[in-house]
This record gives sequence, structure tokens and C-alpha cells, in this order.
Amino acid sequence: MLRVGVLASGSGTNLAALIDSIGAGAVRAEIAVVICNVPGALALQRAEAAGIPTVCIPHRTHASREAFDAEVSAALEKHGVELVVLAGFMRILSAAFVRSWHGRLLNVHPSLLPAFPGVASHKQALDAGARITGCTVHLVDEGTDTGPIVAQVAVPILATDDETSLHARIQRQEHRLLPWVVGLFAEGRVRLEGRRVHLELPPGDPDAFLQVPARA
Ligand code: GAR
Repeated sequence: MLRVGVLASGSGTNLAALIDSIGAGAVRAEIAVVICNVPGALALQRAEAAGIPTVCIPHRTHASREAFDAEVSAALEKHGVELVVLAGFMRILSAAFVRSWHGRLLNVHPSLLPAFPGVASHKQALDAGARITGCTVHLVDEGTDTGPIVAQVAVPILATDDETSLHARIQRQEHRLLPWVVGLFAEGRVRLEGRRVHLELPPGDPDAFLQVPARA
């Protein structure tokens, strides 16, 4: 079983989707620890309710970004983590952290990267008048949302959308995409070659993630 460490800051719906997929046997992985920088965050409560070990590391108590990241890294190592998933983790990680987890650090981002990186991606998409946005799971490099793309789902933007409705439509796809990608890692089906990620999909895999879901 692949040992996954999840870093979260907020509501933890992506964490919940991963917990459910593992529980249903669809993803052959184990969440070894959930680490959160926000005391009392819903993500922590979800992990505790699922019986997953949690660590809360409030970033304000650390003198520097590097000191915070070193404590996060130590907690991940202590729990034997092999793959780190940033699931709504709202902290920039230091270059040293990113380097030490190279190829083993995933982020889920609410746009079709490289469009609309950084914060307020839904607002960026609406302000740009885009008709299609989506979500991306990518490996993390030292830039902001610039790492090699593993998989994406396109999501339509409707004329009636505001940030809330768009966010909800994107999140429904994140909740499918992230567990699928973690499952591919767990089965050793992801190969990184330079900036390109090669997925060795099982025969007959519907590869649904290349299609725009109909008003999902
Ligand atoms: C997700 O929609 C994720 O794409 C976004 O935060 C949300 C967390 O939701 N991440 C970013 O914006 C990172 N730049 P969750 O806590 O309910 O999983």
C-alpha cells in the first residue's frame, strides 16, 4: 500500500474524496497522516473522524518558512510517507521542501493550468470571460502552479455562474480526479520524464478525464 501524506488548510473535501475512494477499495493506498496548518480546520476533523493520524502545525508559531517546512517534512518522514498530496494547502512551500519531495509531491489546483495559476482562479476565469476552465493535478516544482501536469478535467463556465457555483462545479471534478491520480501512483503507473508525465493506463481504461463532462 502506498503511504500518502495529505497537507490541507481548509474544508478538506478533496481529503474526504480520497478517504472515500480508499474506503471503497478503488484506490490501493493508505493515508498515513494528515497535516494541517490551521487549528480546528474541517480537514483535521474529517481525518480524525476517519481514524487517520493528524498533526497540526500552525505556521504562525515558526520563525521562518524553512523552519515550518522542516517540521512538516519531519512529520511526513516519521509517518513513512511516500507520496505527498497538497489538498487545499494554502502555503507556499520552500525550495528545499519541494526539492526533497521531488516527483512525490502533488497539488490539486482549480483551473486548467497553465491558465489562472495562483489565488482566486475562479475569479480569474470569470474575469477573463473564459468558456472552459477545470482542474489540474500536477507535480509541484519550485514555481507557483508551474510543475509537470499529471491530469486535468475541463469544466464548462455557464453564463449564470458566479465564483461559488463555478467553484462547486470544479470541485465535483477534483473529487474524481485526485483519487484517480493517487490510484495511478499507487499502481506505479506514473512516470516523469523531464517536464512530461507519462501515464501507463490499464487496458480498457475509459480515460474519462480527457473529456469535458456534460454540465456535471
Ligand atoms: C480545492 O478546490 C483546491 O483546488 C484549491 O483549494 C480547494 C480546497 O478545497 N487549491 C488551491 O486553490 C491551491 N492553489 P478542499 O479543502 O475542500 O479540498
